[in-house]
Amino acid sequence: MMSWRIHLSLLVVLVQVSVLAAWTDPYDFAALRSLKDIWDNVPPNWSGADPCGDGWSGISCINNRVVSITLASINLSGQLSSDIAKLAELQTLDLSYNEGMTGPLPSAIGNFPKLTSLILVGCGFSGQIPPSIGSLQQLVYLSLNSNKFVGEIPPTIGNLSNLYWLDLADNKLSGKIPVSDGSTPGLDMLVKTKHFHFGNNQLSGEIPPNLFSSKLTLIHLLLENNQLTGSIPSTLGFVQTLEVVRLDRNSLIGPVPRNLNNLTSVQELFLANNRLAGPLPNLTGMNSLNYVDLSNNSFAATEIPPWFSSLQSLTSLIMENTHIQGQLPVALFSLFQLQTVALKNNRINGTLNIGSNYSNQLQLIDLQNNSIQGFTLQAGYSVQIILVDNPICNGGSTQSFCSIPRQSNSSYSTPAENCTPLSCTSNKISSPSCKCAYPYMGTLFFRAPSFSNYRNSSIFASLEQALMVTFRSHSMPVDSVSLSNPTKNLDDYLYVTLQIFPSGQDYFNHTGISEIGFMLSNQTFKPPPAFGPFFFIGNSYPYFSGGTERSNKSSNTGIIIGAAVGGTVLVLLLLLAGFYAFRQKKRAETEAKKSDPFASWDPNTNSGGVPQLKGARCFSYEELKRSTNNFSETNEIGSGGYGKVYRGILSNGQLVAIKRAQQGSMQGGLEFKTEIELLSRVHHKNVVSLVGFCFEHGEQMLVYEYIANGTLKDSLSGRSGIRLDWMRRLRIALGAARGVQYLHDLANPPIIHRDIKSNNILLDERLNAKVADFGLSKPLGESERGHVTTQVKGTMGYLDPEYYMTQQLTEKSDVYSFGVLLLELLTSRSPIEKGKYIVREVKQAMDMTKDMYNLQAFLDPIVASGMSSRSIEKFVDLSLRCVQESGINRPTMSEVVKEIERIMEIAGLNPNAESASTSATYEEESKGLNHPYSNESMFAYSGGYLPPKLEPK
Ligand SMILES: *[C@@H]1O[C@H](CO)[C@@H](O)[C@H](O)[C@H]1NC(C)=O
Ligand SMILES: *[C@@H]1O[C@H](CO)[C@@H](O)[C@H](O)[C@H]1NC(C)=O
Ligand SMILES: *[C@@H]1O[C@H](CO)[C@@H](O)[C@H](O)[C@H]1NC(C)=O
Ligand SMILES: *[C@@H]1O[C@H](CO)[C@@H](O)[C@H](O)[C@H]1NC(C)=O
Ligand SMILES: *[C@@H]1O[C@H](CO)[C@@H](O)[C@H](O)[C@H]1NC(C)=O
Repeated sequence: MMSWRIHLSLLVVLVQVSVLAAWTDPYDFAALRSLKDIWDNVPPNWSGADPCGDGWSGISCINNRVVSITLASINLSGQLSSDIAKLAELQTLDLSYNEGMTGPLPSAIGNFPKLTSLILVGCGFSGQIPPSIGSLQQLVYLSLNSNKFVGEIPPTIGNLSNLYWLDLADNKLSGKIPVSDGSTPGLDMLVKTKHFHFGNNQLSGEIPPNLFSSKLTLIHLLLENNQLTGSIPSTLGFVQTLEVVRLDRNSLIGPVPRNLNNLTSVQELFLANNRLAGPLPNLTGMNSLNYVDLSNNSFAATEIPPWFSSLQSLTSLIMENTHIQGQLPVALFSLFQLQTVALKNNRINGTLNIGSNYSNQLQLIDLQNNSIQGFTLQAGYSVQIILVDNPICNGGSTQSFCSIPRQSNSSYSTPAENCTPLSCTSNKISSPSCKCAYPYMGTLFFRAPSFSNYRNSSIFASLEQALMVTFRSHSMPVDSVSLSNPTKNLDDYLYVTLQIFPSGQDYFNHTGISEIGFMLSNQTFKPPPAFGPFFFIGNSYPYFSGGTERSNKSSNTGIIIGAAVGGTVLVLLLLLAGFYAFRQKKRAETEAKKSDPFASWDPNTNSGGVPQLKGARCFSYEELKRSTNNFSETNEIGSGGYGKVYRGILSNGQLVAIKRAQQGSMQGGLEFKTEIELLSRVHHKNVVSLVGFCFEHGEQMLVYEYIANGTLKDSLSGRSGIRLDWMRRLRIALGAARGVQYLHDLANPPIIHRDIKSNNILLDERLNAKVADFGLSKPLGESERGHVTTQVKGTMGYLDPEYYMTQQLTEKSDVYSFGVLLLELLTSRSPIEKGKYIVREVKQAMDMTKDMYNLQAFLDPIVASGMSSRSIEKFVDLSLRCVQESGINRPTMSEVVKEIERIMEIAGLNPNAESASTSATYEEESKGLNHPYSNESMFAYSGGYLPPKLEPK
């Protein structure tokens, strides 16, 4: 019966098709329709029965056959079903930047006879890469980077004899790099391929010597950040076409092959962070080299080699901890493109002399911890020179080169083009041409730039120009582009935020976004050569209908509705009622406290009586206005019920985060004063510190240090592009725990944070955790030691049920929230997701008799893969103790800290190693630093970022 009906309707379609001969091929239409049925968020014009004739967004046809599907960054979600393979004429498939595209690639992916480009960058695909992919005989571009693929690289990829581009980076691929052996194919057969991008995986075993031969035409060999062992095969020296070689961050041993310097086209050479031994590599003759990083290897002690001053193209010489000794030649500094010399932790001695002829691009000479005794000063040099921990700086020298300079915050950001930036409404941003619009945003990652001076604005201007040329020459509806915040991450990639502004109207349509996404995902855009290999990760674009339906509010409602559906309706309604009542009361209190406790206080004279501030500074409204470019939307980095957070640059160059309360959410003056006093006393390396405040012009603003890497939430959700492996997560857990412990045990008075969550843990440039946002915090007075009775406040999913029932707030309420945070670190899931509560889910699923307590399905695969399962089990134990129903059964924060330290030891990490060196450096900085506006030594050295706060309403 059923099948009759289906046949009948198919018949109708076929009849129609034969009547209107110019319609889309019926098989292609059937394939697209089945994709449309299983995917969410397909473009709204995907309707009707003629995709080619009606111009469905993202679909291109030739002779009524579908030849390309390009749907980047439209928040598409679903799986790739084998139906897609029915599109027999398909040449291009690009679904990049849709994190909601998940599940494995079907084996039918090998059935496209004509596919030339398969581009699935930055999606959520998982499982093994199907070996059938090797049947795509026409394939030229294969980009599967930044997904969650596991297992080995299929040897069949070696059959792709037309392949030009192979990018598998940033997945969880493991096993050996496959090479052919007569019966099975391997990557050594890819003689037309120019790009092997395999970084950030878990590839292991030796780099097979057979991989390389003089037949290869490879230009980029990127194997960084894997688990490769053995030595570098000397066959590498045969691949004379190579321009970029990254073998860093593996476990490579043995000597570097002598014929390495046969590779005379190599521009970027990264061998850092391995266990390479033997003599220092001889780079003589590698005259194209721009960027060399050989740091942290076990090379034999060597005198400074002659090639130090003969590599004419060198911009960056990075050789920390490589056992070099002797005096640096003056000639090194006159290499005319030289920008950075980083030779920390060596045995360089004698007198440092940079000569008078030094490169005018020279920016940094970092020679910490060497044996330098003298320094021939050149008048008026503008180079930053660091000689800390050298004999010349012993005995408390106050020379500027004897202290670690404050982090320089002047970072590039596209300036306005001879116009005044507008202040825009409703999430719009003022473009470089000063029009308010909704830009398409994302991050450009450069895997091996040839330069190291990120303050050189002309290099970024050239990148903007190249982008615009590409967009214009392809008639894209782009008005302008803006770049900001160039930063180097832990993997030595340069990343830059990109905003692309629409022309014509103030938002892009689906066609515009997928075409622009494709220009960036399929490498149509080529950056200036200095930038080297790149990839782009686009955000999904939410403003197709002019941005009307997206705001923080709607996402809050989403969480609430999702949770309610999950069956906790009653609890939530009660909670909401509680919050509502609390807000009403608070509003009444605010009204009552209109009197201004600062009235008698003139902030400029700093006369007594008024705020007792330690190190925090009172800013004028004008200064903060200036530092944020009149609170421009481009500087907005967060918003919430309380108001907005802006990035600002103070007149001394310090980058800060400014939290500006909006009318209606201001505290009474007295409360504001209390909060500042409290915050100004909080000083710990795992707690974000307050730089100052402003209480003028009817404004209440708090100025915090700027924290470079944003919230832990952003990293766990993959939004920040920072990869958090188990080791990094353990360090973050420890840092956050120490921060909270400090608040509980060492701050005076003790403080209950009341809103511990991944949104309130920030990560600095070294991924140190910092507890932030004290908006809900509660100090414990003498009399209240133990608990305070207070209205329930906090964030759903993290809220201590005992506190919720009794209204008695204790330190153990923070411990509960911290337990939820630990589960988040394990699973990378939000506490309430699709109506399910993480605590309950984990408790129900766990089976202590099994490996990893049988929680593999819950764990973030980064955590689950190849890590010490004992450390994970202990971590689960600790999380569950923190979320015990009853507060007295939960550990104290200091017990939590101790337990995490123990877990780190189990995982083979020294809990004090990295963090100790970090804190030492920071203390060094803050000690030597006199704030220009006060006599207090400042704690803030690196700027602040405060996350948007999702405050339940
Ligand atoms: C250098 O490269 C050329 C070209 O591939 C090759 O013929 C030669 O053997 C190589 N020399 C060494 C010492 O590896
Ligand atoms: C380094 O290589 C160059 C050129 O191949 C050679 O002349 C020189 O002797 C080598 N130096 C050492 C120390 O091996
Ligand atoms: C520098 O170290 C070298 C050994 O690498 C030694 O021969 C030389 O005498 C030292 N120079 C000075 C000035 O200490
Ligand atoms: C999308 O926008 C472009 C230019 O901005 C326009 O030419 C095109 O017709 C639009 N497409 C749709 C489907 O609205
Ligand atoms: C990208 O698309 C353009 C336009 O279709 C094409 O000319 C180019 O070859 C493609 N490049 C890749 C890498 O697919």
